[in-house]
Amino acid sequence: MTKIAIIGAGPCGLSMLRAFDQAEKKGEKIPEVVCFEKQADWGGLWNYSWRTGSDQYGDPVPNSMYRYLWSNGPKECLEFADYSFDEHFGKPIPSFPPRAVLYDYILGRVSKGNIKNKIKFNTKVTSVVFKNDKFEISYLDKTSDATSKDNFDYIVVASGHFSVPFIPEYEGMSSFPGRILHSHDFRDAEEFRGKNVIVLGSSYSAEDIALQCHKYGANSVTIGYRHNPMGFKWPKGMKEVHYLDRLDGKKAIFKDGTEQDADAIILCTGYLHHFPFIDENLRLKTRNRLYPPKLYKGVVWQDNQKLIYLGMQDQFHTFNMFDCQAWFARDVIMGKIKLPNSDEISKDINKWVAMEEKLENPDQMIDFQTEYTKELHETSDYPKIDFELIRKHFKEWEHHKVENILTYRNKSFSSPVTGSVGPIHHTPWSEAMDDSLKTFLNK
Ligand SMILES: Cc1cc2nc3c(=O)[nH]c(=O)nc-3n(C[C@H](O)[C@H](O)[C@H](O)COP(=O)(O)OP(=O)(O)OC[C@H]3O[C@@H](n4cnc5c(N)ncnc54)[C@H](O)[C@@H]3O)c2cc1C
Ligand SMILES: NC(=O)c1ccc[n+]([C@@H]2O[C@H](COP(=O)([O-])OP(=O)(O)OC[C@H]3O[C@@H](n4cnc5c(N)ncnc54)[C@H](OP(=O)(O)O)[C@@H]3O)[C@@H](O)[C@H]2O)c1
Repeated sequence: MTKIAIIGAGPCGLSMLRAFDQAEKKGEKIPEVVCFEKQADWGGLWNYSWRTGSDQYGDPVPNSMYRYLWSNGPKECLEFADYSFDEHFGKPIPSFPPRAVLYDYILGRVSKGNIKNKIKFNTKVTSVVFKNDKFEISYLDKTSDATSKDNFDYIVVASGHFSVPFIPEYEGMSSFPGRILHSHDFRDAEEFRGKNVIVLGSSYSAEDIALQCHKYGANSVTIGYRHNPMGFKWPKGMKEVHYLDRLDGKKAIFKDGTEQDADAIILCTGYLHHFPFIDENLRLKTRNRLYPPKLYKGVVWQDNQKLIYLGMQDQFHTFNMFDCQAWFARDVIMGKIKLPNSDEISKDINKWVAMEEKLENPDQMIDFQTEYTKELHETSDYPKIDFELIRKHFKEWEHHKVENILTYRNKSFSSPVTGSVGPIHHTPWSEAMDDSLKTFLNK
């Protein structure tokens, strides 16, 4: 029997498990599936941990999410086609839920299937090599400290790419008298109440962590961008300046001449695609981009088509794109989708990479990833979902952010699955200090 290994039980790994589960429910004979998850539970980044550094077994903590994190895009844009928010919560809920609510939603879908028993928890894949037409996987049971080996026909790498921080160095860091941390280790904005905070970066982590610090009472927040400013209308107490030049004692000196006393520096400088456990000739090497090369349809490894990578793109679309990838991968593995010859594979990859390299603004990037997801969607029986509505929502959301970065999370959107409209939340985001599921849903 064909044997499949899935590495990681975050949203991507769970999409893969769900795809097989759905085929089995339709009476199809599915391969043997084993999922390895190095954490004690499922949900990937959405499974919040207070821990930073390493866990009780000495293993690096993968989690990068923090308290008070709310969805940064409308939930309608990531909705599962086969499991709507209305179905899970029994009623329409507002469009920008906090982490705990999305976590509950993700787990709700997989808890219904014959899925959890396929996952080996606390089990870390330490090596993947391809020999004699099989993948040999070595894995460590972290609780017993025992390593084992097993052979598989296909590997699905769903280990995420927002867990290993990219940490640059600036002059003066080693003598800075305050705290320096990467967004990966940021857990609670309360820590920075009354402090002068420097945030470096100009993407989603920089935007959200800067706003969190402001919301929870930082004295000042100064964002240092490198290439392009985010350019939002920042509230009083926040500013965006050009690139940190150096630190001099507790003073941060920027390239545009700005000087700011700082108590803490938060490096929102992104993450590395880091797969040290995969043999080098099978390893995806890329920066964070919308179309990493060498992946046919964004998932099948060009040089060995029994190796699948899920969710390795930079992401506007998330959960339903992961699903489209997983359903496609499942049908490739089960022989329902035939892959073209290597010339056509190469041509297709080059076409998408060339298009990606020409993208200039968020609207074009949204269009690009929507087209990619739609194309994948058409290849399988993943249920109907209105990607045109999702495209429209993403663009509207971008415009809401430009209008007012403090209020975009108070808006409401309609579901691409059920059509129902998210009610306006009882408390505006900037005043909502409690991010629990109970408070969000009740009132
Ligand atoms: C701070 C932050 C906030 C975000 N907010 C949003 C948001 O609001 N909305 C949104 O749609 N997306 C958001 N994202 C994007 C996020 O990437 C996806 O939502 C999603 O978590 C990606 O799923 P994944 O399965 O690819 O990776 P992950 O969620 O990272 O899961 C990967 C899993 O693989 C496991 N693993 C890794 N290596 C191994 C190994 N060697 N052996 C065994 N197991 C392993 C990990 O323990 C983990 O459980 C956010 C990301 C970050 C960093
Ligand atoms: N739900 C939420 O609110 C929330 C919050 C945080 C993150 N997220 C998600 O988390 C994921 C990761 O986002 P991310 O912002 O961490 O990573 P990212 O999108 O990859 O952005 C990395 C940022 O680091 C900057 N950078 C890199 N090296 C630098 C240097 N030496 N000095 C200064 N800046 C540098 C880059 O700037 P250049 O452009 O100049 O290269 C870029 O702005 C995204 O999917 C995002 O949606 C969501």
